[in-house]
Amino acid sequence: MRSDWKPDYIRTKVCFHKDSLRRIGIVVRILTGQFSVRCVVPENVALSIAERRALRIILRVIQRLLASFERRLSASEPQSGIRLVKDVLKVGPDSGHETVLRICFTCNQRCGFCFVDLSGKTASLDEIERSLDFMDPRARSAEVLTISGGEPTTHPRLLEIVELSRRRGFRKIKLQTNAVHLSRRDRVEKLGTMMFFVSFHSHRPELYDQLTRSRGQFRSAVSGIRNILEAGGNQLTINIVVNSLNYAELPGHIDFIDQLRHPHPIAIFFSMLSEVGLVRTPDLGVDLGQMAPALNESLERCRKYGIRVEPFSGNCAIPLCQLRVPGAYRGRAEYPQDDVRYQDDFIGCDKRGRAKRLSCKSCLHDQYCRGVCVSYAQRFGLDTLRPIRPTRTAPS
Ligand SMILES: C[S@@+](CC[C@H](N)C(=O)[O-])C[C@H]1O[C@@H](n2cnc3c(N)ncnc32)[C@H](O)[C@@H]1O
Ligand code: SF4
Ligand code: SF4
Repeated sequence: MRSDWKPDYIRTKVCFHKDSLRRIGIVVRILTGQFSVRCVVPENVALSIAERRALRIILRVIQRLLASFERRLSASEPQSGIRLVKDVLKVGPDSGHETVLRICFTCNQRCGFCFVDLSGKTASLDEIERSLDFMDPRARSAEVLTISGGEPTTHPRLLEIVELSRRRGFRKIKLQTNAVHLSRRDRVEKLGTMMFFVSFHSHRPELYDQLTRSRGQFRSAVSGIRNILEAGGNQLTINIVVNSLNYAELPGHIDFIDQLRHPHPIAIFFSMLSEVGLVRTPDLGVDLGQMAPALNESLERCRKYGIRVEPFSGNCAIPLCQLRVPGAYRGRAEYPQDDVRYQDDFIGCDKRGRAKRLSCKSCLHDQYCRGVCVSYAQRFGLDTLRPIRPTRTAPS
C-alpha cells in the first residue's frame, strides 16, 4: 500500500428491481490498485435460469474490464507496499461474502507450500483502520471478516485489530491461524468469542514438523485448538491441506481430531494444494484418484463421529466428483467460470486460471466447482474428473 494511500474508490450499482427489499445489485468497488466486483441477490428473490445467466454475463464483462485496468495499473506503478484486502467473490442467491484482511506477512512457521510471500511486513493499525473504513458499512454486520496473514497471531496489535473490527460493525470475525500462539489460554480469552480457521495438517508430530517446516510446535498447536474449544462459544474449523505425505493417514487424522475435540462441536475443511503450492512444493502434489479412497473413508468417519464437514467450495476445494456422495458436500455459492478453460489437455499451456475437462460442462455441479489448477492438470491429467449426470427418477 502506498504511503499516500487514500480510499479513492468508485462504487457502482446496477439495480434490477426498484423495490429496496428486492434489490439485486452488482457492486463494483475500486480502491487504489484493488478492484472487486460482487453481485448481491437477496434471499427472498428467486432468479430464473435465464436471469442468472444474464447476471453472469454482466459480471464477466465487468471483471474483464477491471482485470484490464488492474494489469495496466500494475504495469505502470511500482508495487511498493502491502495489499491488505481481498474480496472473495461469490455469485448467486444466498451466497455469502467474505473479506480477507491480511494484517502481516510474518509467521512462526515456514510451510513449504504456503502461497503467501512472507516478506516480513506488518500493517500498521492506521492502514488496517483505513482498509476497514473502505468496506461497505451496511454489509459489515452480515459479511465475514477473515483476519489472516502470514500468521496473524504474530502481529503485536492483533487484539486491538479485532476490537477495532468489532467497533466498525463486523459481527462475524474469523481468525485464520496455526493456533501455536494460542497455546496460552489467556490469549484466546482476550480475543473473545469468534470463528477460528486453524491449519492442522497432520496428527503425527514428525509429519506436522515436516509440513510446517517448524520444530516442536505440534503440542502447542494442539493446546491452541483445545483452548479455542474449551473457551466455549467459538466456532472452529480445522483446515487440512491434503497432500502426498498426509493423504494416506487422513482417516487416522480424523480419529485424532475427534478425540481432541470431545465433547465440543468442530468442523473440517479438506483443502487441495493451490497453484502456488504445487509449484513451490511439487513433491506434495498427489493424484486425485489416488487420494480419493482415503478422503472418502475420512468423510465416512466424520459422518460417524458427528463432525461437520465444510462444503467443498472455492478455489482450494477438492472437486466434488471425487466424493462418493458429492451432493451432500456441495456449497450454496455458484462461481463465475470465466477464468476456467475447458479442455482435455493442458500440456504447454500457461498457468492462468483454472482447468476443467471439456465434459465438465455437462456436470451437474459445474457452476459450483472451480475445477483444478493448471499445474495439477499438467502433472496428473484430468482423467480422474468424472462429470456427474443428473439422476432421473423413474416415473412411478
Ligand atoms: C496462508 S494461511 C494464513 C493463516 C495462518 N498462518 C494459517 O496457516 O492458518 C491461510 C490458510 O491457507 C492455507 N494454505 C496455505 N498455503 C496453501 C496452499 N498452497 N494451498 C492450499 N491452502 C494453503 C493454510 O493451511 C491456511 O489454512
Ligand atoms: S502457518 Fe500459515 S502463513 Fe505461516 S507458512 Fe504456514 S500457511 Fe503460511
Ligand atoms: S465440474 Fe468437472 S471437476 Fe467439477 S465436479 Fe464436475 S466433473 Fe468434477
